[in-house]
Amino acid sequence: MENTMKLVAAALLAGASTLAFTATVQANADGEAVYNQACMACHMTGAAGAPIRGDADAWAPRVEKGIDTLYTHAIEGFNAMPPKGGQMGLSDEEVKAAVDFMVEPVM
Ligand code: HEC
Repeated sequence: MENTMKLVAAALLAGASTLAFTATVQANADGEAVYNQACMACHMTGAAGAPIRGDADAWAPRVEKGIDTLYTHAIEGFNAMPPKGGQMGLSDEEVKAAVDFMVEPVM
């Protein structure tokens, strides 16, 4: 009985921290909106070899490089990945939020 209570408490805590994380990201910049506007054309279709959002196999070796490397590559460009997805009007924070949104399903 006591163990069940602990499990329930742990599950509630995990849920609360996930919500807090989501809220923090959205407070800075709307990653989903940036993704839909600037990243989706390639990252939903896999155009030019872009890793598709939610494709765990495609993202595993990239996530291993660390989120800071992914931020840098998204901002400065990486092979066929254009700097800021070609939208130079985006702030670094907006691009980072879009990266967070992109890797969120596979983290
Ligand atoms: C014109 C197509 C295109 C657009 C638009 C685009 N990407 Fe990419 N992206 C790519 C391609 C292609 C790769 C794979 C590059 C490689 O691994 O050689 C990539 C790779 C990445 C990676 C992984 C980098 C790494 O180090 O493995 C991230 C993160 C990323 N893109 C983020 C973004 C974000 C954020 C946006 C929108 C702001 C965006 N991309 C828009 C084509 C695009």
